[in-house]
Amino acid sequence: MYPLEPRAGEIGRLAAQGAWLTEEAEALLSSIGVGPGWRCLDLACGLGDVTRLMAARAGAPGLVVGLDLERRFLDHARAEAAGAVEYLEADACRTGLPDGGFDLVHGRFLFAGAAQFDPLLTEAIRLARPGGTIALQEQDLSSMACFPPHPAFARLKGMLGAGLEQSGTGRGVARRLFGLLRQAGLRELRYRPFLVSCQAGDPQAAWLPDIVDSLRGPLLRAGLTDGPALDEAIAACRSHLNDPGTTAILYTVVQVWGRKPAGAAVEAG
Ligand SMILES: C[S@@+](CC[C@H](N)C(=O)[O-])C[C@H]1O[C@@H](n2cnc3c(N)ncnc32)[C@H](O)[C@@H]1O
Repeated sequence: MYPLEPRAGEIGRLAAQGAWLTEEAEALLSSIGVGPGWRCLDLACGLGDVTRLMAARAGAPGLVVGLDLERRFLDHARAEAAGAVEYLEADACRTGLPDGGFDLVHGRFLFAGAAQFDPLLTEAIRLARPGGTIALQEQDLSSMACFPPHPAFARLKGMLGAGLEQSGTGRGVARRLFGLLRQAGLRELRYRPFLVSCQAGDPQAAWLPDIVDSLRGPLLRAGLTDGPALDEAIAACRSHLNDPGTTAILYTVVQVWGRKPAGAAVEAG
């Protein structure tokens, strides 16, 4: 289940995030060599940002499928669709898709929300053809910091960590990703982390206050803060991030990809 509660701006937050991660997603697809005729699957595609990049590369002879549990995200993805993309409402652990049908199976920001990694990884590997690529991207929040430091930023960083913990999500998976894929027997593994930063006026500058706002319900229910204190911290953090003298590192994204051995059975974890 998606850990963040539906709120008015959540689709907008995800859309903005997808837009500012485009260049790095393109770099990943270029490194993998995605091109005309490729068959690609985007697990937990959300609004379809990476799915659309795959479709632009694979073109008419290719096959691109975006899959997600949440109909509200798929509706948005379908409305934005360009080119030949099929969107499926399904669980990434049990897709019902046939074995070995894809040259590339990709998932961004899926594992951090999962209760267990093995069913996801086993399914991703099953769906790739022998010699095909499995590519995963996850966020590592440990790099988050702002300059100059500000107590409201630190408070929201702490609340985000605690809120994600309350949602039972797989924190720390970004740092474990390489080891998970290696243990699963994937070959020719590649590791490519990058930092997401912001300064005043950047579209991602409000990422931290916005995502904490999306965790409002779990934070209040867990007694980690109260409404007025949360509103005050969010407002103070927004104001600091709007200061032209402020810069911030929001998170690291770890990209890991590798090949399913040709002709060998591969099991996760
Ligand atoms: C943070 S969003 C990331 C969306 C997209 N991959 C991106 O990077 O923009 C996480 C997505 O994972 C989806 N999701 C979570 N668990 C899932 C599962 N078991 N099967 C399919 N989708 C899942 C959620 O519905 C949500 O769209």
